[in-house]
Amino acid sequence: MSTLKVQLGERSYPIYIESGVLSDGARLNRHIKGNQVIVVSNTTVAPLYLEGLCASLDPALQISRVLLPDGEAHKTVEVLGRIFDTALQDKHNRSTTIVALGGGVVGDMAGFAAASYQRGVNFLQIPTTLLAQVDSSVGGKTGVNHPLGKNMIGAFYQPQAVFIDPDVLDTLPHREYAAGLAEVIKYGLICDPAFYEWLQHHRDDFVARDKTVLGEAIRRSCVAKARVVAEDEREGGVRAILNLGHTFGHAIEAAQGYGTWLHGEAVSAGMVLAAKLSMNQGWITDSEVARLVQWLEAMSLPTSPPDDMSVATWTEHMLRDKKVLDGRLRLVLLAQIGEACIVDNLPQAELEAFIATFSAA
Ligand code: NAD
Ligand code: GLY
Repeated sequence: MSTLKVQLGERSYPIYIESGVLSDGARLNRHIKGNQVIVVSNTTVAPLYLEGLCASLDPALQISRVLLPDGEAHKTVEVLGRIFDTALQDKHNRSTTIVALGGGVVGDMAGFAAASYQRGVNFLQIPTTLLAQVDSSVGGKTGVNHPLGKNMIGAFYQPQAVFIDPDVLDTLPHREYAAGLAEVIKYGLICDPAFYEWLQHHRDDFVARDKTVLGEAIRRSCVAKARVVAEDEREGGVRAILNLGHTFGHAIEAAQGYGTWLHGEAVSAGMVLAAKLSMNQGWITDSEVARLVQWLEAMSLPTSPPDDMSVATWTEHMLRDKKVLDGRLRLVLLAQIGEACIVDNLPQAELEAFIATFSAA
């Protein structure tokens, strides 16, 4: 068992990482405040884990279940309303606890519901994808997509605890697993060169889903995320480095239609673009870029963007990025492998010339 802590003063919270934690009733019940619970899951995860979870909760609790349709395309304001419908129909009051059981889509939506239902209720995260375990369940970003932009409607709202059970990854399809690995590699690239090397060394163990290696990778990823979030909870500065590859990635996701590219896949291709742009600045070498590309390819992750997006489409989407300040795009690049930097003075012409090298006419 590893227990980490996200240090945010009175909103600090634990991250429990342990095989079997999903059925650790005593621990779960300790973090439920009132006598009502709303478990939010989806139609894929619920048949696998929902009833097991509910069985480990205190039998005296009133438990409502909300099953969302599966997929990024359903991460919308309209579908979010279903959580409020159940909460109100089942008469949940302000002391209810919303529990997210699922991947990042469920976690982001349940978190936003927790932030806004009766102006904020208790919230627990039980992430069931690798991506959600290493990234989205920690740090309090919640929200939904808008057709014009990814995660454009939401709130910062921290959970009261995060329960990570690596065993649930046994049922995760390879494509989803690989997408999560892209975010793991991201931590090495942005802030932990030793972790980057360690991950490369254990490349094959990852493919084999070796439990020890996986547990350690989840732990180190959560340590990195918790540290950055503690320093800059609402992304006034350093937290932006967690978005390496995301400005390009979010543009891909929105332009291709949500769900066509998985989030982690778009981040994978986006990280390669960020690495190439960093190479153009002379900060990292072409062999370092090639090593990253080869590694991502070995994990069956995309390393180049779709070829049907024009320069205009790219720039339109990129300028809607939440890191744009006063009309100026801020990009996360690599000062070196293991150290990200935020660049806000790249000339527009240089960015467009770079985009032109991989976009459709
Ligand atoms: P997801 O939630 O769509 O889950 C991926 C797929 O795996 C889904 O089909 C899901 O039903 C299925 N699944 C989940 N757990 C499973 C399990 N244990 N066994 C079998 N199938 C399982 O996608 P994701 O990759 O987890 O999350 C992506 C989302 O997270 C995006 O919307 C992205 O914007 C968001 N995100 C948020 C943050 C944040 O800080 N809040 C960070 C990164 C990503
Ligand atoms: N995934 C980016 C962040 O949490 O800030």
